[in-house]
Amino acid sequence: MNTATAPSAALLPEVPAAQQLQRCAQRRAELARRIADAGGGVALLPTAPERMRNRDAEFPYRHDSYFYYLSAFGEPYSLLALVVERDGSHHSTLFCRARDPERETWDGLRFGPDAAREIFGFDAAAPIDELDALLPALLRDRAAVWWPFGVHEGLESRVQSWLQSVRAQARSGHRAPAAQYDLCALLDDMRLFKDDHELQLMRRAAAISCDAHRRVMRAAGAQAGPDLREYHLEAELLHAFRAGGAQAPAYGSIVAAGANACILHYRAGNAALQRGSLCLVDAGCEFDGYASDITRTFPVGGRFSGAQRELYEIVLQAQQEAIAATRPGARFHEPHEAALRVLAQGLLDCGLLSRDAVADVDGVLESGAYRRFYMHRTSHWLGMDVHDCGDYAEPGEAARRLPDASLQPASRILRAGMVLTIEPGLYVRAAPDLPARFHDLGIRIEDDVVVQARGDCEVLTAAAPKTVSEIEQVMHG
Ligand code: GLY
Ligand code: MN
Ligand code: MN
Repeated sequence: MNTATAPSAALLPEVPAAQQLQRCAQRRAELARRIADAGGGVALLPTAPERMRNRDAEFPYRHDSYFYYLSAFGEPYSLLALVVERDGSHHSTLFCRARDPERETWDGLRFGPDAAREIFGFDAAAPIDELDALLPALLRDRAAVWWPFGVHEGLESRVQSWLQSVRAQARSGHRAPAAQYDLCALLDDMRLFKDDHELQLMRRAAAISCDAHRRVMRAAGAQAGPDLREYHLEAELLHAFRAGGAQAPAYGSIVAAGANACILHYRAGNAALQRGSLCLVDAGCEFDGYASDITRTFPVGGRFSGAQRELYEIVLQAQQEAIAATRPGARFHEPHEAALRVLAQGLLDCGLLSRDAVADVDGVLESGAYRRFYMHRTSHWLGMDVHDCGDYAEPGEAARRLPDASLQPASRILRAGMVLTIEPGLYVRAAPDLPARFHDLGIRIEDDVVVQARGDCEVLTAAAPKTVSEIEQVMHG
């Protein structure tokens, strides 16, 4: 279907690894099986659009995670259509840009439909310009159409117009799909469980990010000068990410000096790193489409003060107990609860919470008094997206009544292959009622873990220094 002449047939963009292409084909087959179980139909899945940053400058392009999960195809202006029969047999069509020698000279090489079909293993491919003309025929006489609800601006009206085109053929005896379903509902659950290839990529992302955190600690260590600023440490991160082969940061890096660490979504800014103050760095790279997400907190100059160390050890113990609670069969909320108990005890012991106001750990938890110092959850799913998709409630289970009488969905049962972060913290803003030695200390420790079949979890980010002695050692070179 593609007639444009390419600059040279041999000149193509980089081809993904064979294992990745094979995994994508397996995922398309698995999705087809799930659609067949629901009566068959057609799945439509576009990739992300290019986005303008300002005037004619674009943001760096990033594919849509769902689309890439099923295709490994990284070009914009692409859409995957998967026609699924009731027995699970399926037929895939990739719509992508046709080859165009002139545009490729300016914007970069393209596969074009023919090479894309052959290399990526689709059953068919066609130029994206022919989408409106060809799609109604794919939807004709199918039971249902599946597409990602609420993800792509304008997709809903395009789907309606394709359905309208099919309805216009009613007098020829053709019927339009009678049902529409959210494709994300099927894909979210598939993406929640990482296969061996995905775990390989996540280990690689984690390893590069661990190197980056070590590099940052060294830069902020014994040799740190008076002019060291947050952006200098961000530069160390970016260097390590790209030097390690990662494509980009997985999210905006947080480099927060001193009191800035108490602002949860602070980004790397201009603030000077004062010797003896703490610095919180929350940063991870994306490698071949997979995120890592690490937080470390260290003292500028490389020695924890007594008060810093006191709070740090509480957060560290909370994090270690949360990791120990992360195993198959446990619920998603269990690591959070394990962390909360340690934090609550620590807040009482160090005097940030007064025993006159809350008698014991249970009192701290029931009253929610810890929320002044710990206001976020301990975990989120991690994968292609840093806050990855996947239901946090166990499917098919009724909501439960909690001790505080609220009705909450039963939290997800952890199973092998799920990847989540473990990231407790304590954030103490200066206030007259709090001991001065803790003022403006913000501490978070975050690792990425995989639930393992053997009964515990693998810490992907264990190579980033975490104990007081490990951190002080790295910072002193
Ligand atoms: N970096 C975002 C998070 O830790 O969730
Ligand atoms: Mn993080
Ligand atoms: Mn996180």
